[in-house]
Amino acid sequence: MKYESTAIRKFFLLLIPVTGVLIINSCHKDMSVPGARVPVLPAEVYKYDSVPGDIDFNPFGQLVINNDLATLGRVLFYETQLSMNNRISCGTCHKQRFAFSDNEAFSVGFENKLTGRNTPAFINTGIQSGFFWDLREATLGSMVLKPIANHIEMGLESQSYMVRKLEALPYYAELFTKAFGSPEITTDKISRALEQFVSSIISVQSKFDIGKSANFANFTEQEEEGRQLFFHDLPCSACHGGSNLSGLSIAENIGLELDYKDNGVVGDFSPTEALDGWFKVPTVRNIAVTGPYMHDGRFKTLEEVVEFYNSGILPHRQLSTMMRKHDNGGFFFFGEDLGNHQLELQNNCFPLRMHMTSDQKAALVAFLHTLTDNRLMTDPRFADPFTLVGE
Ligand code: HEC
Ligand code: HEC
Repeated sequence: MKYESTAIRKFFLLLIPVTGVLIINSCHKDMSVPGARVPVLPAEVYKYDSVPGDIDFNPFGQLVINNDLATLGRVLFYETQLSMNNRISCGTCHKQRFAFSDNEAFSVGFENKLTGRNTPAFINTGIQSGFFWDLREATLGSMVLKPIANHIEMGLESQSYMVRKLEALPYYAELFTKAFGSPEITTDKISRALEQFVSSIISVQSKFDIGKSANFANFTEQEEEGRQLFFHDLPCSACHGGSNLSGLSIAENIGLELDYKDNGVVGDFSPTEALDGWFKVPTVRNIAVTGPYMHDGRFKTLEEVVEFYNSGILPHRQLSTMMRKHDNGGFFFFGEDLGNHQLELQNNCFPLRMHMTSDQKAALVAFLHTLTDNRLMTDPRFADPFTLVGE
């Protein structure tokens, strides 16, 4: 779509009833910049506040979603002007087609520097009580502005400058008025709108969710075998359990390293020893599309993750009890492994060896694929609303 530049000198709303699309158009002061980005929004506001029927939990938790607030949040989420170089938005790293993660081990921020950790997918955040791999933020409201200021991610450290940048973009007056009843822009309003949009991103319609209300009649034999392994025979659901398959926002040490480069959660393990290697238990919803895996993206495929749990857990001194053999404080035992136990003895840590057959490994991976909610990846409500106009 193209417009005469005189026509877009001023902020205007253009309604096209035929396509049902409302274009909130704008012009940047600098019209010489080709390809100005403007949001294109539906004539009738999308509904973010409803949950599809037949599910046995409320993915919004205590939060009440307001459609106009979430709509503003959607525009802010994809707003590149919220970064120092006007190129990075939240959506640059949190991509819808990868369930709001990306497919890189580490992501590139505004100055081409890499993030220190793998970009996590997020969905159903309303029922989570801890954010970031080290759980350092307890609420979404307190964390959503952090990436904007982050010196690697978006680099916009001054909040007053952030507000001024948005004030210079004509389409926000209308959006803030709809959401808050006045066009005034404040940091608090920005964080509330972002929180609303992020929380509105729910994922509750995977094959697994649909199967739950139908005795898993929709599962293949292999997927059902994998489900049994995940929930009954193996310890997986002891951590990746509950409605969101992420446990209770706890952190655990799963023995990826003997001495972690990234220490994870900050705190004391004992009076003489700091925590080392404790990371948030992530949800396994949509896991098939969110690789590479773990806080540092070390595993490229689900097969590698499963092989790690099967045979690769290291005897870290702070290893979770769920990952230890039953006579070492754990709950499971699948048989001894052969080999030299010097390190185990030294650390008094005997990790589980799951001794899975190749069929079981394949079944577990097949089950993990049933957790993909394909609608999430294409839902227009969560898509980038911006389009390029102007020359
Ligand atoms: C340059 C890439 C990048 C950008 C841009 C970015 N993020 Fe992130 N995001 C990350 C990384 C990496 C983490 C994990 C950081 C950590 O755990 O220390 C993260 C974590 C999160 C989480 C926590 C998820 C969880 O379950 O723990 C949320 C929510 C989130 N980001 C939202 C946002 C929002 C909102 C924006 C825009 C204001 C944004 N992010 C911009 C890379 C990015
Ligand atoms: C003791 C708790 C615990 C148990 C038991 C457990 N996990 Fe995990 N899982 C975690 C933690 C913690 C992480 C993140 C670790 C990190 O990044 O350092 C994780 C990460 C993962 C990931 C990668 C997630 C991502 O977004 O990168 C997958 C997949 C996974 N686990 C699957 C499984 C399967 C399958 C099982 C059963 C064989 C299992 N887990 C058992 C705690 C556990």
